[in-house]
Amino acid sequence: MSSLVVVALAINVLVVGGLAYGLSRRREAAIHMKIMTTCFVVDLLNVILVEVAARGPGGESPGAVEQGLKSFWNDPVSLLNFHIAVSVISIVCYIIAIRVGRRLFRTGEGRGLHRKNALVFIVTRLASFVTSIMVSWPKISGS
Ligand code: HEM
Repeated sequence: MSSLVVVALAINVLVVGGLAYGLSRRREAAIHMKIMTTCFVVDLLNVILVEVAARGPGGESPGAVEQGLKSFWNDPVSLLNFHIAVSVISIVCYIIAIRVGRRLFRTGEGRGLHRKNALVFIVTRLASFVTSIMVSWPKISGS
């Protein structure tokens, strides 16, 4: 069992909880913006942790990015590739949310776009969360 993988998963659970809380405060712009932006930063830092965790205790295995690239070419239709795809889409949605959300705050424009983007984000971020548990389960359970 790799304890770093468990830490990364625990952070993932905290971020999903934070996102749900931030969503519940969506009518209060100042607090909503702070929570959602913090979740984005923590999610990005967690990607670095996942990269380190994938290398194993002595750094003997390839990192997550290298494993992802290999899997992409070796086995295009796989759970890992689905996980990578929804994770990348959710990061793109974060960036759109920050840009459109800041404009919405400044000018009051873009509410419809922010809402549509939120829908794609919620679906892909939840899919990323569920598949992250599925792909890391063998490492957590030691099987
Ligand atoms: C990435 C995750 C995010 C999701 C899922 C999300 C979702 C939402 C939703 C559903 C609303 C309500 C829209 C409506 O009134 O119909 C909202 C409002 C808003 N969001 Fe976000 N948001 C996210 C991130 C952000 C970020 C990063 C910012 C800015 C930095 C932001 C700024 C705003 C603002 C200014 C409002 C309007 C608040 C008000 O009514 O006064 N959002 N957001």
